[in-house]
Amino acid sequence: MTQGIVTVSYIGATILFILALGGLSHQETARRGNLYGMIGMAIAVLATILSNSVDSYWGIIFSMLIGGTIGLAMAQRVQMTEMPELVAILHSLVGMAAVLVGYANFMDSTVTLTGAEKTIHEIETYVGIFIGALTFSGSVIAYGKLSGKIDGKPLLLPARHWLNLAALILVFILGRAFLDGAETGGGMVPLLLMTVIALAFGIHMVMAIGGADMPVVISMLNSYSGWAASATGFMLNNDLLIVVGALVGSSGAILSYIMCRAMNRNFISVIAGGFGTTTGGPASDEEAGEVNPISPEETASLLLDAKKVIIVPGYGMAVAQAQHAVYEVTRFLREKGIDVKFAIHPVAGRMPGHMNVLLAEAHVPYDIVYEMDEINDEFPEVDVTIVIGANDIVNPSAKTDPNSPIAGMPVLEVWKSKTTIVSKRSMASGYAGVDNPLFYMENTRMLFGDARETMEEVYKGLSG
Ligand code: TAP
Repeated sequence: MTQGIVTVSYIGATILFILALGGLSHQETARRGNLYGMIGMAIAVLATILSNSVDSYWGIIFSMLIGGTIGLAMAQRVQMTEMPELVAILHSLVGMAAVLVGYANFMDSTVTLTGAEKTIHEIETYVGIFIGALTFSGSVIAYGKLSGKIDGKPLLLPARHWLNLAALILVFILGRAFLDGAETGGGMVPLLLMTVIALAFGIHMVMAIGGADMPVVISMLNSYSGWAASATGFMLNNDLLIVVGALVGSSGAILSYIMCRAMNRNFISVIAGGFGTTTGGPASDEEAGEVNPISPEETASLLLDAKKVIIVPGYGMAVAQAQHAVYEVTRFLREKGIDVKFAIHPVAGRMPGHMNVLLAEAHVPYDIVYEMDEINDEFPEVDVTIVIGANDIVNPSAKTDPNSPIAGMPVLEVWKSKTTIVSKRSMASGYAGVDNPLFYMENTRMLFGDARETMEEVYKGLSG
């Protein structure tokens, strides 16, 4: 394949990737966006394989078969609730690839650049390996924390900010030594030392971050993996990799910003770590008070008397796979002329868009699914709000208790509706491990049990 055709294919793939990102921003167009992304990636891979720079196909076919088989097996096995872990471990592979390409490139004796071009190439290699190593070790730790293999509590070493600063200064000093050494053939030692520091930096950075901030960390690592890919593109002189890496890097950075805003967190303080000390567990006795239980049958009759209903799904709906039962209840109520809407918090569940995906899977119409900012003012006019397996995202202490670990995080103000029904199995806390005063409020009813089973019972109560 001539270089001209490869370039045209790369431009086509880039356009498809941009269209894919645009498509993914709306539920109606998300499927099309995915399709654009898949076609773009197929074109990119084919154009690269068929380009003149590839002289042997066996290694590529062998690696694609192994990688493809592992990827397929993992994707088939993974539960929707485990997606953040999978994403974290995949980010680590991007980081590792950037490190390996960087070293291979540095040791490649066929690269014969001189003067400024050589210096720029060496800086690209150094920066690429640094970002790659940081992304690799940080993502492995994020995977460990999300999967519960590593304690979710933040590791707060004394003088940790000074440690980080000292590591960064060392990386700059070693960078200078690397550039000088590259002239004389002695660049390998500073490069290896910098890699060790970057790996330790990635571990330390993510270890210091508590459970509640992990969503931001995942999207931040997503951004880093994009920049690592972009740096690899510079090293390999591959325009497509540069552009695609930059697209991933910038969209990950925008997502991190949106999440920080949704949790009222400052990005720098998230990265500095120390927020959200547990990954859930039983609520403490301090909050003990009377709760008012409700049965599925009573829930059904309250719903039938309502004119306006809002449903707030959370992580528990995903665990229970209750979305289909929730849809049946929604369909029934709408057929009776009751106004039913869904309210989605930006960090509901365990990954961005988690609830939207589940509701779409259950065929809930898009036009009754609202983002938090669009619907939060409507709660005072609502007769019944049903909270299904959500906890942190409806916790009033985020607004009222300045000492709460989730203080300042915007939440869905469900307690303002006439009656709030909370479907969950027990009084256990949510992801942030914080007590929820909502459960003890006068207008709150607790619908105890697995969300799917109770929603099926509610449906029976409605239709029976
Ligand atoms: P959580 O605060 O985690 O609460 C989920 C609740 O679901 C739990 O209190 C649990 O109570 C209940 N539950 C679990 N299994 C259930 C089942 N089978 N049936 C009924 N209820 C069940 O969830 P949330 O309100 O969606 O908030 C999300 C949290 O996750 C936030 O803190 C957010 O920062 C964090 N997070 C979000 C993301 C993204 S990007 N969305 C990623 C990682 C972390 P019981 O045990 O009593 O049933």
